[in-house]
Amino acid sequence: MSYQAHFRVWRGDSAGGGLTDFTVEVNEGEVVLDIIHRLQATQAPDLAVRWNCKAGKCGSCSAEINGKPRLLCMTRMSTFTEAETVTVTPMRTFPVVRDLVCDVSFNYTKAREVPAFKPPEGVAAGDYRMQQVDVERSQEFRKCIECFLCQNTCHVVRDHEENKESFSGPRFLMRIAELEMHPLDAADRHQDAQSKHGLGLCNITKCCTEVCPEHIKITDNALIPLKERVADRRYDPLLKLFRK
Ligand code: SF4
Ligand code: F3S
Ligand code: FES
Repeated sequence: MSYQAHFRVWRGDSAGGGLTDFTVEVNEGEVVLDIIHRLQATQAPDLAVRWNCKAGKCGSCSAEINGKPRLLCMTRMSTFTEAETVTVTPMRTFPVVRDLVCDVSFNYTKAREVPAFKPPEGVAAGDYRMQQVDVERSQEFRKCIECFLCQNTCHVVRDHEENKESFSGPRFLMRIAELEMHPLDAADRHQDAQSKHGLGLCNITKCCTEVCPEHIKITDNALIPLKERVADRRYDPLLKLFRK
């Protein structure tokens, strides 16, 4: 069963742009990315979109659909009524390159600022041992496909360009939490989480968790425990005495 849908797609580049209206065929079982591809094939051959796997695994096709941060390839057309206008815009938090493609290099910069896993001293590689419960804890965070939808959604940077310098965003605070909870990581990450990565700017709104296509409990399982660890350290009476 086919029908004609009304699409509005943002077109433009770093200098500016606007929404363009299209009427386009939709077939049963299709996702929004299929429709964008049909637009490229039939009406707008130069429409720029980033995608790779069409299976929700590469994290490339992030955009906003009717104002909600979503993966284009995982949003079924059946979630909209036939009469509904489907509006597709690029992620708002990152600079536009062209049409639906954003420059997400902010995220790569932040990724590089998180020091890598530091192996424990005196334990040879191959002799590392850890409990299954610790393995499972980090497995959840490892499901991240780096779509950056959480980074795009978090209000700390979404509406505040000036915070980008001092805030690494939920994806990379989660990476710090993952390493911090790793029983074999020898680095001390508390101080940096707060002072260099802006953990204190997160006020636990959980918007990041709501948009994560991998359903990672970013706030409950990474950010809140990390905040608790930082607070424990800061207010530990023995450590306080020691610091004095
Ligand atoms: Fe995407 Fe979730 Fe990873 Fe954030 S944590 S980048 S929303 S997969
Ligand atoms: Fe932002 Fe998520 Fe915290 S949306 S404010 S990082 S809970
Ligand atoms: Fe890979 Fe959508 S194309 S996640």
